[in-house]
Amino acid sequence: LQSTLAGGAALLVPDILQASAAEGFSILKAAPTKFNLTSGDDQATDPTDVWSYNGLVPGPEVRVKQGDEVRVRLVNNLPEPTTIHWHGIRLPNAMDGVPDLTQKAVNPGEEFDYRFRVPDAGAFWYHTHHRSWEQMARGLYGPLIVEEREPQNYESDLALIIDDWRLRENGQIDTSSFGNMMDSSHAGRFGNWITVNGKSQPTYEIFRSQLTRLRLINTCNARILRIRIPGLNAHVIARDGQPIAPEFLGDESFDLAPAQRIDFSLEASSGSPEEVKMFALTQRGEPVELARFAVRDGTRKPEASYRPVDPLPENPLSKNINPSQAMRVELLMQGGAMGRLSAATFNGQQMGIRELVRLGQVWALNGVAGLTEKPLFKASVGQTVLVSIANDTAWPHAMHLHGHHFRVLERNNRKFTDESWIDTVLMDPAETITIAFVADNPGKWLIHCHMLEHQAAGMKTWFHIEA
Ligand code: C2O
Ligand code: CU
Repeated sequence: LQSTLAGGAALLVPDILQASAAEGFSILKAAPTKFNLTSGDDQATDPTDVWSYNGLVPGPEVRVKQGDEVRVRLVNNLPEPTTIHWHGIRLPNAMDGVPDLTQKAVNPGEEFDYRFRVPDAGAFWYHTHHRSWEQMARGLYGPLIVEEREPQNYESDLALIIDDWRLRENGQIDTSSFGNMMDSSHAGRFGNWITVNGKSQPTYEIFRSQLTRLRLINTCNARILRIRIPGLNAHVIARDGQPIAPEFLGDESFDLAPAQRIDFSLEASSGSPEEVKMFALTQRGEPVELARFAVRDGTRKPEASYRPVDPLPENPLSKNINPSQAMRVELLMQGGAMGRLSAATFNGQQMGIRELVRLGQVWALNGVAGLTEKPLFKASVGQTVLVSIANDTAWPHAMHLHGHHFRVLERNNRKFTDESWIDTVLMDPAETITIAFVADNPGKWLIHCHMLEHQAAGMKTWFHIEA
């Protein structure tokens, strides 16, 4: 620690959620607060009015060990109802935090206890699931890191949440543009101010000859981040929390869609520069600095071995996909600007596109905008499910499945060789994919686009797994 402090750059330590209340429950209090979204050196503007958990943006890091129980008491001090969804955690359905599907939204002044075991180690996150397009854009999310039972070979472990905010010139959130049809029917709400763990362009220290585990979490409402970290020896070791066979990244860029996570093994070698920047590339390919790594000299712990590409231990996922006995489901995505949706069902009523636009519902899955009374499909526990998704829209979408991780078996009718188990998949316009998973978690689960404006404007459905 001393050598760290001597290094000069401020060491940014995350605030870890501590148990406080009775029965070992930690409190996450959702409330309006002020938060400084700049790095804090010279204050050009007043702090931003945000909605936060425990006064922090992102909310405090929830860090537990695989198999442990998370106990969190949500206290709602917001002016409207809210819930917490534990993104990517394969938990009991009643803890999934989806209003009207798995629980009642928690009213202002009320509390709700979340209690579940975490079966998988990896990088996850938590966020509001009520009016999430607005509540998340105001700051209601945080990291949920599940450590492996056995310590891994990393000297440090850094979880970075990347978000974009739409701020006005006075540094306040542009609230008047929430839910506007322009965003909903196009790519979603994009921000003009990017933060990494709530700061603008922060610096983190990493040490030569040591291994850093870097976990990136995209909590933007809609922005697909195209990220580059040139100058470090980086290997991808997990996606959406699930380990993959380590893959060398080098100077390549990679896409991180909303809600996706990626874990790296990061190594600064003797040849690495003293300062490494992590960039996001704009659509025109211009680099925008997200954060910096100050590379310091360091020594490796004597007991640690030196193997940056050791695979992580496997998680207890059901990976036994049996396509020949699978249940097959089709999902057609339609709508949005430049799309050909002319009519859809909403709240049980068939209506034309003008009426849909008036009601803010411009995306449909299988001809239906928003949730249906009956699920898209029912499966029984243990059944393999194959969902073929066709993106018949002019926009990319980040499709997320609750309560399960899945594999992509086919992309555009070609066998897909990537064997990652993910919970959110990015689809390009006109793409078709087939995903597969074992329906091993009973309950009512959502499938939706994680571009939050798309979700709010109709792009969601649900399925039921019967015990
Ligand atoms: Cu991270 Cu239903 O969402
Ligand atoms: Cu979408």
